[in-house]
Amino acid sequence: MACPETKKHSSTKRKFLLFCASIAALYPIGRFIGYSIPRKPRIIEIGKPIPIGGFHLGTDFILFDNGDITWALSRKCTHLGCTINFHEKENILECPCHQSRFSKEGMVIHGPAKKALTRYKVEKLKNNGGYIVTI
Ligand code: FES
Repeated sequence: MACPETKKHSSTKRKFLLFCASIAALYPIGRFIGYSIPRKPRIIEIGKPIPIGGFHLGTDFILFDNGDITWALSRKCTHLGCTINFHEKENILECPCHQSRFSKEGMVIHGPAKKALTRYKVEKLKNNGGYIVTI
């Protein structure tokens, strides 16, 4: 006959194992439906203006300013995640890994990438004092 103390431990252990099994069962379901924990946005300040029609190459993004519109694109290729480069002469972004090409607006020109580049929010500072990019 089991003592009451052993029964209590056994019940707690069972509940704990049930909890772990529930988490283990929910994880693949969460991945399947595409759930991910949203990350905290990073705010990057560029303290000087870029010339009209010019660009600023950041580590994770590229910023364009055509005078009226300012936009920033992720440098992470949407194919397999390599860092893309900007070819100023051709006015295109190109991935060095498999040569996907993107327009300055981030649209796919040539695959294998199928999705456009991620756009980031850009705030132009007053008196042409620079930019704030939220990635
Ligand atoms: S990782 Fe960019 S084209 Fe494949």
